[in-house]
Amino acid sequence: MRVISLNTYYLILITQYLLLRTYNFDTKQQIDMKKIMVAALAIVALVACNNESGEKKPEAGGTDLSSNPVYKEGLALVGKNNCISCHKVDAAVTGPSYRDVAEKYAGAGPETVTALAKKVIEGGAGVWGSVPMTPNSWVSQEDAEKMVRYILLLKK
Ligand code: HEC
Repeated sequence: MRVISLNTYYLILITQYLLLRTYNFDTKQQIDMKKIMVAALAIVALVACNNESGEKKPEAGGTDLSSNPVYKEGLALVGKNNCISCHKVDAAVTGPSYRDVAEKYAGAGPETVTALAKKVIEGGAGVWGSVPMTPNSWVSQEDAEKMVRYILLLKK
């Protein structure tokens, strides 16, 4: 679902206001071409600004992740493998929040992904505190790496 942003809403209001100003209500005619051109230019400028800020607008994790296949697959796997009983995206529960894990390993290379995946399978403690992550031994290395790559995408 695409929600209309506040920016777009203001843009529509301003556009309507500018267009109304070019219209004479007594004669029911457009007042003059010059004013229409000014209004049109203003609208073009506003649309340009709006698009620019729209592109920079961060959604979860900095960009829109919902169409990213790594994100979609990892999200499904952490649900299926019950990781969410100890991890939330934005809050530490029994385990650290995924966002915090992503911040800690920001820019990590493939070795880190492999090592974190191994830890997911074998469990372990000491990095985030003394509470251990219990082993998730039914998870394959491949699936664990997919979940880790998903988690690392969640960096702000
Ligand atoms: C029983 C609770 C629990 C479950 C279930 C669990 N975790 Fe964890 N997880 C933890 C705890 C506690 C830590 C912190 C361990 C530490 O401090 O070293 C952790 C840490 C992590 C880390 C960071 C490891 C590090 O060394 O920084 C990742 C990544 C992770 N979990 C992913 C997963 C995934 C993926 C699953 C599902 C397969 C999962 N966890 C299931 C409790 C859990």
